[in-house]
Amino acid sequence: MALLSVWLHLLGVVAWIGGLMYQAHVLGPAARRGAVGVFAEAARGGRPVAWTAIAVVALTGFYNVTRLGPLERVMETGAGLLLAGKFMLVLAAVALAAQRDFSQVPRLRRALAEGQDPAPPLRTIAWLDRLVLLLAVAIVYLGVAVSRA
Ligand code: HEM
Repeated sequence: MALLSVWLHLLGVVAWIGGLMYQAHVLGPAARRGAVGVFAEAARGGRPVAWTAIAVVALTGFYNVTRLGPLERVMETGAGLLLAGKFMLVLAAVALAAQRDFSQVPRLRRALAEGQDPAPPLRTIAWLDRLVLLLAVAIVYLGVAVSRA
């Protein structure tokens, strides 16, 4: 069960961060060269997968915490501190991802539908994506460190 949970945890991470990487590094640059409609549709269409993956990552993450062993040992090895830091970064990443998906992506779609300039929401989305990807780099490090503490 513990192995299954870590496996699902990592599949969720791959689905969420992989999808975001593709949008940020392939579709984003294409959008800035003119393919804004394709980007807006992919960003909207990717939301169910991304948020299902985030839910799987969070649920399996909490389950993984219960499998780390006795609390004294978790605190002694430093895993507790690493986990606390990881959790703060996860909260920040999820908040930024929510701002992207539920505020900026609708704003981009509205701009396209009403014939307004899509550049401002596109720029904001690009920055939010960079921040989430940067946080993910640190979160993955902390996840691996917790496992080995
Ligand atoms: C509520 C949020 C989360 C919690 C409570 C959580 C908790 C945990 C725990 C306790 C482990 C250790 C599992 C073990 O060794 O048995 C772990 C591993 C890991 N987590 Fe998370 N996690 C969360 C979110 C995330 C996110 C968002 C990412 C990546 C973006 C991530 C990436 C990883 C990685 C790469 C591992 C290492 C697996 C290994 O080396 O075996 N976690 N997580």
